[in-house]
Amino acid sequence: MTAKKSYEPKRLLITGGAGFIGANFVHYWLKTYPGNRVVVLDALTYAGNIENLSSAKSNPDFRFVHGNILDYELMARLLREEKIDTIVHFAAESHVDRSITGPDAFIETNVKGTHELLKAAKTVWLDENPGMPHLFQHVSTDEVYGTLKENDPPFREDTPYAPNSPYAASKASSDFFVRSYQETYGLNTNISNCSNNYGPYQFPEKLIPLVITNILESKALPIYGDGKQIRDWLYVDDHARGIDLIIRKGRTGEPYNIGGINEWANIDIVKLICELVDKRIKEDPALQKQYPDAPVCQGNVAIDLIRHIKDRPGHDRRYAIDPSKSNKEINYQPEEIFETGIAKTVDWYLTNENWWRSIMSGEYQNWIKQQYTEND
Ligand code: NAD
Ligand code: DAU
Repeated sequence: MTAKKSYEPKRLLITGGAGFIGANFVHYWLKTYPGNRVVVLDALTYAGNIENLSSAKSNPDFRFVHGNILDYELMARLLREEKIDTIVHFAAESHVDRSITGPDAFIETNVKGTHELLKAAKTVWLDENPGMPHLFQHVSTDEVYGTLKENDPPFREDTPYAPNSPYAASKASSDFFVRSYQETYGLNTNISNCSNNYGPYQFPEKLIPLVITNILESKALPIYGDGKQIRDWLYVDDHARGIDLIIRKGRTGEPYNIGGINEWANIDIVKLICELVDKRIKEDPALQKQYPDAPVCQGNVAIDLIRHIKDRPGHDRRYAIDPSKSNKEINYQPEEIFETGIAKTVDWYLTNENWWRSIMSGEYQNWIKQQYTEND
C-alpha cells in the first residue's frame, strides 16, 4: 500500500478552467489558497467561456492562457515558465449526446490531448527536473464504470471499467494512459471518478440547466425514454473540495470516487425543478417582468412542458457512487444538501439571464436543432 501524501501544491495549471467544473474549481482554489499561482489553460470551445473567470482576472496570482492541450510545445513551455508543480486536468469534450453524433473530437481531446499533456509533464517533471515534487490530478467520471441495475451495489474504485458511450470510452482510455504514466515512468498521478455535477456555469445542454432555461422560455422539456434513468447528483463545490482532498491527502497513484449519495430519477428531478421555478416566479413580480414567457406568467404550470422523446442510444440506466474509500482515506463527504443546492442553482440561472442567453447562440443552436430533428 502506497503511503498517504501530505502534499501542498503551490503553482497549479488548470486545464479546462473556463468550463463548468473547472471555473468553479478555480474560484474555490483562489478563495481557499490565496497566494497559490493559478494558471488556466483553455481552448475556449463552445463549452468554455472566459466570462466564467471574470472575477479572477484582477487577481495577480491568476493567469489565463488561450491554448489547446493538443499543443505539446505550449504545455511544456507553460510548465517550465510558470514552474508548475500540479496539473489539475479538467479539459475535455464532456457531453454524451455530442459523443454519439461526433465521437472524433472526443478521441482528439480526451485521449490524444490527455496524452500530449502527460508527455509534457513527463518531459518537464521527470526528464528535466528529476526529484521535483509534482502531481498530475486527472479529473474523470463515474461513466467509465458503465451502468448499474436497480439493486446493484454502487460503483467502487475496483468496479471493472465498462464504458458504454464514446464519451465514456474516451475518458476510460485517458484514465488508462494516466495510470500507465504512473506505472511506467513514475509520474505522480491521481484519478478522481465523479458522479453528475450541478451548479452555476453549467452549459445549458446538460439536463439541469437545460430544463431551467427551457422553462423560462416555455420550451419543451425533453425526457429521454421513460425518464426513470438514475443519476447521483453532486453540487459542484463538493467536487472541488473532493479534488482538493485527493491532491493533498490521497495516496499517490490511487483512484478515488467522489459522489453525492444522492440518487434521483431524471423525471423526478425535472418535476422538482418545474415546481421550484414556478414558485420562484410566482412569488417575485420582478421575475414575472423578466420572464413573461414562463408558464406561470401565462396561467400555466411548467410541468406541462414535459415531453418524452426517443431514448439516448446506449443510455446508461443508473449511476451511483460508493464514496467509502474517499470517506475513510481522505475524510471526504458531500456537504451541500440537495434541496439547498438545487434552489441555489435555479436562482443562479434566474439571476444570470445574460450569461445563458449569450452562450446559447450560434453553433449551439445549430447543434440543438439537429438533435431535436433526429429525436422527434
Ligand atoms: P465542460 O464541457 O463544461 O468544460 C470543458 C472545458 O474544457 C471547456 O472550457 C473547454 O473550452 C475546454 N476544452 C475542451 N477541449 C479542450 C482542448 N482540446 N484544450 C483545452 N481546453 C479544452 O466540462 P465539465 O462538465 O466542466 O467537465 C470537466 C471535466 O470533468 C471533464 O473532464 C469531465 O469529463 C469531468 N466530469 C464532469 C462531470 C459533470 O457532471 N459535468 C462529472 C464527472 C467528471
Ligand atoms: O456521471 C458523470 C457525467 O455526468 C459526466 O461525466 C458528463 O460529463 C456529464 O455530462 C454527465 O453525463 P450525463 O449524460 O449523465 O448528463 P446529462 O446532463 O447529459 O444527462 C443527465 C440524464 O438526463 C441522462 O440520463 C440523460 C437525461 N437527459 C439529458 C438531456 C440533456 C434527458 O432525459 N433529456 C435531456 O435533454
